[in-house]
Amino acid sequence: MMRAVSKYTEGAMRKTWVLGNWKLNQLTDDVVSWVDGFDSGVLISDNVVAGIAPSFPYLSRLRNLLPQSLKVGAQTVSEYNNGAYTGEVSSSMLRDLGVEFALVGHSERRQMFGDTNKIVLNKVNVLLEQSVLPVVCVGETEAEFKAGKTKQVIAEQLANLLSIDNVCNKIIVAYEPIWAIGTGLTATPDQAQEIHSFIRAQFEAVEAAESLIILYGGSVNEANAKSLFLQEDIDGALVGGASLSVDKFSKIIRAAS
Ligand code: PGA
Repeated sequence: MMRAVSKYTEGAMRKTWVLGNWKLNQLTDDVVSWVDGFDSGVLISDNVVAGIAPSFPYLSRLRNLLPQSLKVGAQTVSEYNNGAYTGEVSSSMLRDLGVEFALVGHSERRQMFGDTNKIVLNKVNVLLEQSVLPVVCVGETEAEFKAGKTKQVIAEQLANLLSIDNVCNKIIVAYEPIWAIGTGLTATPDQAQEIHSFIRAQFEAVEAAESLIILYGGSVNEANAKSLFLQEDIDGALVGGASLSVDKFSKIIRAAS
């Protein structure tokens, strides 16, 4: 796949990442049949990185069953390291289980479970302490989109992250317009590219942003993935619904190759 080159991306060697977010889905039988159906031959390109984020109870199982070429990630993490925090899972536990990345600030966490921008920063920091890659999700609601506030909202969501030293090489950003998540409505490649370029520009203010990986998420599927991946500032996808099907997820990986 040949991507267009922008003023930020010239000379950069960014890989294309395809990450699956299973959300609150998949029991043991589903996990086993997904793994049985996964042909690691789809990961032939050195330029593509892929991974799956199951629910916490399946992290270990999935890590043991999947080929090492596929990364395993968590869907969230505690902002606390240890102690009296019933029900929480720490970044050191994730690392202990061989987890390589964790989603932070997914819109469902921001909207339903109180993840504020401050908490998102705390979570990013605890993950970085354990060398687990944070995948920080940002995105506007439908009302904010209609009011023309997309860039303002995203700038606010990113502001805290800009103070992290060498941040562009330490985190991934996933742009997920909330109106596109699970709705079948995808931002057009042009709409998504405009916001991705805006996101990269935020980081350009603090350091060279050409190495920052920026994923698009929101109803990505095997039919629309390629046109998104061809955009100069779109470095892959965070895939929800379509990642539950090993066949669809594999096709999205192929579209990135
Ligand atoms: P979707 O979810 O692909 O089902 O829209 C994406 C996400 O929430 O990460």
